[in-house]
Amino acid sequence: MFSNIFKVQTTKVFTQRLFFTTTVNKNGRLSGKVALITGASDGVGKESSLLFAKEGAKILLVDINEAKGKQVADQIKTLGGEAYFFRADVSKAEDCKQMVEVAEKTFGKLNILFNNAGIMISDDDDSVKTTEAVWDQTMNVNLKGVFLGCKFGIPAILRAGGGSIINTASFVACMGAATPQIAYTASKGGVLAMTRELAVIHAREKIRVNALCPGPLRTELLDKFLDTPEKRNRRLVHLPMGRFGQADEVAKGALFLASDDSSYVTGSTFLVDGGLTAAYVTPIDKN
Ligand SMILES: NC(=O)c1ccc[n+]([C@@H]2O[C@H](COP(=O)([O-])OP(=O)(O)OC[C@H]3O[C@@H](n4cnc5c(N)ncnc54)[C@H](O)[C@@H]3O)[C@@H](O)[C@H]2O)c1
Repeated sequence: MFSNIFKVQTTKVFTQRLFFTTTVNKNGRLSGKVALITGASDGVGKESSLLFAKEGAKILLVDINEAKGKQVADQIKTLGGEAYFFRADVSKAEDCKQMVEVAEKTFGKLNILFNNAGIMISDDDDSVKTTEAVWDQTMNVNLKGVFLGCKFGIPAILRAGGGSIINTASFVACMGAATPQIAYTASKGGVLAMTRELAVIHAREKIRVNALCPGPLRTELLDKFLDTPEKRNRRLVHLPMGRFGQADEVAKGALFLASDDSSYVTGSTFLVDGGLTAAYVTPIDKN
């Protein structure tokens, strides 16, 4: 019995060390890999950039927010890692072409493409109220942005001999809500379907493609949208754990998909959602 307890504790400590190490591990799970991460200045993209770098990857951070992106790149360099920031708007073909060229020129190759940039516009609503402008902007960033990332990223990954692509969808691609964001939901459904197809197309070319589907997270994206306690509580009641997720919890899922630990995982709907999509009736809070 004691040996079992020890085993559990040792594993826990090891896991904590792995995830919460403060410097770059040159023999980490992504050592020798080059990763391009979009939406890298904040939230999931920022946490993933830091975690991937700590696991030994060289990172090209891509975002429209240059000031914050450069800060993340500097943070990585302080940890002893290699990172470079490139400003690109993922909804623009020329920007996406250039970001891939910069990754290859700066670091010599591209192994991991994390198409993570996304937006949620506050007046995205049901099909009657949502404007065409909101629809178009959401689709351009969330869906076309992922398409363009793959369009220019896949040839580079093929040149590197294969790799891993992670496209950020969402739990809303898997379930409906009576608190509508019709353009956002449709864009994420598109990401999920496109990812499955890409996974099948490239399965014999050593490229794995997975859709990362986070549950609701405490990042700027959701905080802006859920700006009152009523709006937040309307969602929290549906979460089995009774809390929103954190960006670093999703980054750990992204790390699994990026690394060779997921060598037999492709075309997956990879949910990191605190059990949200599994729930019918959630527990009563005992506190
Ligand atoms: N936060 C959530 O609750 C939640 C839930 C499910 C899925 N997601 C998805 O996860 C991803 C990351 O979300 P987050 O919560 O970290 O958001 P965030 O707002 O914290 O960060 C998004 C980043 O993307 C950048 N960005 C926006 N438009 C861009 C563009 N056109 N080109 C390049 N960069 C751009 C922003 O500047 C920002 O740095 C998004 O795709 C989002 O839809 C988020």
